[in-house]
Amino acid sequence: MVAMFIKLHALIAIDMSPDQKEHWDRTYADNPVFFGNEPSFIARRAMELMKEEGCREVLELGPGQGRDTVHLAAAGYNIAAVDYSPVSCQQLSDVCDNVEAVCCDIRQGLPFPDRYFDACFSHMFFTMSFRSWELDGMMSEVYRVLRPGGLMFYSVRNHKDPHFRKGNHVAEEIWEKNDFEVRYFCEYDIRKLAQRFDLVSIEEFEEGPLPRRLYAVTMRRPSR
Ligand SMILES: C[S@@+](CC[C@H](N)C(=O)[O-])C[C@H]1O[C@@H](n2cnc3c(N)ncnc32)[C@H](O)[C@@H]1O
Repeated sequence: MVAMFIKLHALIAIDMSPDQKEHWDRTYADNPVFFGNEPSFIARRAMELMKEEGCREVLELGPGQGRDTVHLAAAGYNIAAVDYSPVSCQQLSDVCDNVEAVCCDIRQGLPFPDRYFDACFSHMFFTMSFRSWELDGMMSEVYRVLRPGGLMFYSVRNHKDPHFRKGNHVAEEIWEKNDFEVRYFCEYDIRKLAQRFDLVSIEEFEEGPLPRRLYAVTMRRPSR
């Protein structure tokens, strides 16, 4: 009986939290520069290495309103940017001419050919409300669309973040606060996700007034 109640309660709790896609749409519609205009720490890091390696074709996952995308595009990269929020895709198209904004749910796969991109970049995308199997599936897709030797840069919030284990528990290490569902990572999670890649570095950084505490991860698809 108690087990049944807990199970039902958990289901109701999850159902009560707003759909994350709609939540992002509303957030972006209400706040035209939600994360600011400055490029993130990880975008600056990624641009240094992409320049050194002569990258051209770059995939961005979860660009939001494009605070990093505009800087990547200005640096001359050909960008394909994928976000499931139609508001994000519209706002991105308004601010960047030379970016292909693709509106789709990345959990359903990436609509690009194998080995197409020199690099993949994503700031605070994998730290969204994804279950382990969804993370594994999306990382396999990133591996597929990267050329051998291609680079993968991503950031996620970590266990030192002030919001870790605060608010409502959703599942696994996912917590909901102010209607945002966020997954928090430890180093073990990063190494597990890197299985098919060569892990180049894990760096810690902070962002925003909270401040959010994040890992910046660099990986490479092996050359062979
Ligand atoms: C925390 S925001 C980061 C936005 C941007 N990278 C930045 O740092 O300014 C996460 C973004 O991922 C997008 N997103 C979340 N889940 C998604 C999914 N399953 N498929 C595609 N985009 C998704 C959201 O719409 C949102 O724009």
